[in-house]
Amino acid sequence: MKNRKDAENIYLKRLERHHDELRWLYMELYDNSSMFAELTESMEHFYRERSQDLKALDLSRESSQDWYRQNDMLGMMFYIDNFAGNMKGVRDRLDYLEQCNVNYVHLMPFLASPKGRSDGGYAVSDFRKVREDLGSMEDLESLTAACHKKGIYVCMDFVMNHTSEDHEWARKARQGDGEYMSRYFFFDSDYIPGLYERTVPQVFPTTAPGNFTWLPDAGHYVMTTFYPYQWDLNYKNPRVFNEMMYNFLYLTNRGIDIVRIDAVPYIWKELNTQCRNLRQVHTIVRMMRIISEIVCPGVLLLGEVVMEPEKVTPYFGTVEKPECHMLYNVTTMATTWHTVATRNVGLLRKQLDIVNGLPKEYVFLNYLRCHDDIGWGLDYGTLLGEGLRERSHKAYLNRYFQGLEGGSNSRGELYNADPVTGDARFCGTTASMCGIEKAASGQDGEAMERAVRLDVTLHAYMFMQSGIPVLYSGDEVGQENDYRYKEDPDKADDSRYIHRGAMDWKRVERIADKTSVPARIFDSLGQLEKIRKAEKVFSGRADTWTIDTFDPGVLCIGRACDGEKILGIFNFSEFDRTAWIKETDGIYTDLISGEKRKAEEVPVPAYGFLYLKRESG
Ligand code: GLC
Repeated sequence: MKNRKDAENIYLKRLERHHDELRWLYMELYDNSSMFAELTESMEHFYRERSQDLKALDLSRESSQDWYRQNDMLGMMFYIDNFAGNMKGVRDRLDYLEQCNVNYVHLMPFLASPKGRSDGGYAVSDFRKVREDLGSMEDLESLTAACHKKGIYVCMDFVMNHTSEDHEWARKARQGDGEYMSRYFFFDSDYIPGLYERTVPQVFPTTAPGNFTWLPDAGHYVMTTFYPYQWDLNYKNPRVFNEMMYNFLYLTNRGIDIVRIDAVPYIWKELNTQCRNLRQVHTIVRMMRIISEIVCPGVLLLGEVVMEPEKVTPYFGTVEKPECHMLYNVTTMATTWHTVATRNVGLLRKQLDIVNGLPKEYVFLNYLRCHDDIGWGLDYGTLLGEGLRERSHKAYLNRYFQGLEGGSNSRGELYNADPVTGDARFCGTTASMCGIEKAASGQDGEAMERAVRLDVTLHAYMFMQSGIPVLYSGDEVGQENDYRYKEDPDKADDSRYIHRGAMDWKRVERIADKTSVPARIFDSLGQLEKIRKAEKVFSGRADTWTIDTFDPGVLCIGRACDGEKILGIFNFSEFDRTAWIKETDGIYTDLISGEKRKAEEVPVPAYGFLYLKRESG
């Protein structure tokens, strides 16, 4: 950018493009023109404050809209303290991330949050302050700058549904200041909360039952959809929306590239509804998208919508009026583990076909697991046709992954087992769920061989899906469950900590021994990542589809782009199988072994996989 005038012109152009729609949406929701004027003034202030480097990134990303749909995108998520102690520690570990071929890091919540009442950092007490033990805002800025130098994008959580009860607004509200009480949902009797409870489901039925918390000192109930110390913000109040947008822009100006909008379906509440996915939520997300396109168009929005597909895809908005850039492929993730437990790929194929049929502008974030539990949100309508009932099937899955049924080698724990509905979710690391923990404790070489194979195959399958793969840090070396959370009173009640253990750097050191389990996983993933980067069929432009293998345990995914084609064949069963496919369009090369073969009647070892690339010409 040559001078100030140029920068102003760029801003004005962006504003002009979006102003009317933004105003329309704002007035529809708030009918308050002075607050709208304040919003646009502040947006300009944040634009001015944005650094030259970030503005340059904005410009280059604006001109290549596909920048995040490339086949080199590979994410990794971690808690800063678990991974490297603090932000400076992360800077020192950037070489390791490069070694992992990672170019996108999700720094799990790192803003100020009260110890013991933080829900893993998802209860923010100050949106402009980094948690002291992790560093400062300056450290964040130098970390994002260091990442950008290496071509690594940085993602952070924007926890906008609620604040911590220690947030300045909450403290003032608690003292009875009406202006601040109106930023939350306060009630002086249980009448209205009781009405809400009739229709609003529970997020944490065992660890935090109910949606309201009684505050004896304030003599009021406050709405707390998640934990009692996470107070729901009232977005009917335009002050809340404006201030949270200022926080959003403040944080993106620190060099954040991807903003994960935490718990987004929950941000608007209405009586007599489930208080999820209401139409106003979409108005707010669309406004956020517009605001970022005006002030910081290089920033991506990642929506956290952990729900069934019909509820997830609306968060992309439309191609003309987009909302989020990316969403989690949550149903595919849960269906993957269902497939592991049943050795039947039928439901997974159906799910992948749905995702593959969506517009290519829709980018999904693929993962085998994240920091949260695995909820069994499957297509039970389809499963019923196969005689599987929701309640008993969930019970089977939970027993399977605890290692109690179905020839399972998995290890892990239940999460929020609801005695009323019989429902429960599941926690465990990928490696432990694949059998690595059990094989290690039994010193069973053959079982370990199988477990490692399943672990690598699941990653190979994840890399084959359309979208961006994100690893949970530690999975690249097969890190097992960590049961030490039980000794920490702040964590003991929340089994999600079983798979949020500190990074085991000793395990990483073992990569040097090429026969060790960590090395086998790390090297195999590295090989797959290199293939993914080298082959353009892995870009977002590719067509992706599934192919019938005529074996219930074997999945085949095809990808094609500019005349090139790759098949991924994945055996989810513990027996050697054959993919009875018949792709007669040429000779294929096995990208792992280098052998040439036909893509017909392909044998696949137990828990193994193949990547077959069609020879050109
Ligand atoms: C999101 C987070 C989860 C947290 C919740 C409340 O779902 O992923 O970890 O408990 O939001 O903020």
